[in-house]
Amino acid sequence: MMKVIRVNDYQEISQKAFEEIKKTVTEKPDAVLGLATGSSPVGLYQLMIKDHEENGTSYRQVRTYNLDEYVGLPKEHPESYYSFMHRNLFDGLDIPEENIHIPSSEGDLKEQCEAYNRALDENVIDVQILGIGSNGHIGFNEPGTSFDSVTHVVDLNLSTIQDNARFFDNDITKVPVQAITMGISNVMAAKKIILVANGENKANAIQACVMGPVTENVPASVLQEHPDVVIIVDKAAASSLYKEKR
Ligand code: F6R
Repeated sequence: MMKVIRVNDYQEISQKAFEEIKKTVTEKPDAVLGLATGSSPVGLYQLMIKDHEENGTSYRQVRTYNLDEYVGLPKEHPESYYSFMHRNLFDGLDIPEENIHIPSSEGDLKEQCEAYNRALDENVIDVQILGIGSNGHIGFNEPGTSFDSVTHVVDLNLSTIQDNARFFDNDITKVPVQAITMGISNVMAAKKIILVANGENKANAIQACVMGPVTENVPASVLQEHPDVVIIVDKAAASSLYKEKR
């Protein structure tokens, strides 16, 4: 079942998502969290750090699995998702490094994909955080990806490269052209999914995700078939819902 929560602004999105994570970690201290990078979850991560500092909520037993990683950036690069996650979340929590899992794009990529799939099979994600691409991607599963996909290497779409250029001095030639990503069936295996999206740039993708036909052309539309999905959006991202696609 898909529940859509429309709030006023980004701060409220982050707060609502945080409440879900806090509930999960309080009820199940050894919860498995699926995490995303990008701008959308940064406010949530700040609230998790603040709560950990102020209230002592512990992540010592939590295990995390990230959605994706660029291919071609060493993990020490400031824009690798390894660096992003440490800078924006893990460095501020008490989670042990060995509990953190991010797909590795070092070495043999096929072996890395297989190892990540094995780990995901053995560790069911309790709550998966997702953002959404302006083209409807989830993880880096671009339009056309099979709903049966598992962790794989992808060629990023031009629209994704353009969207992410803001992290690379607005220079699209610096943006990696490939990534390793959990597949759609890995994402759908999570017990609960929370998708956060803000801004006008996401309005059409949210409309297609929530109201459009379930089609591999819009990867996020698969979420309509998941038993427990919460979509948290601000007014701008919700602006095409319940209207004709613009
Ligand atoms: C990130 C990821 C992507 C982003 C999406 C939105 O790990 O898998 O699907 O969630 O590209 O990115 P932002 O939040 O930067 O708009």
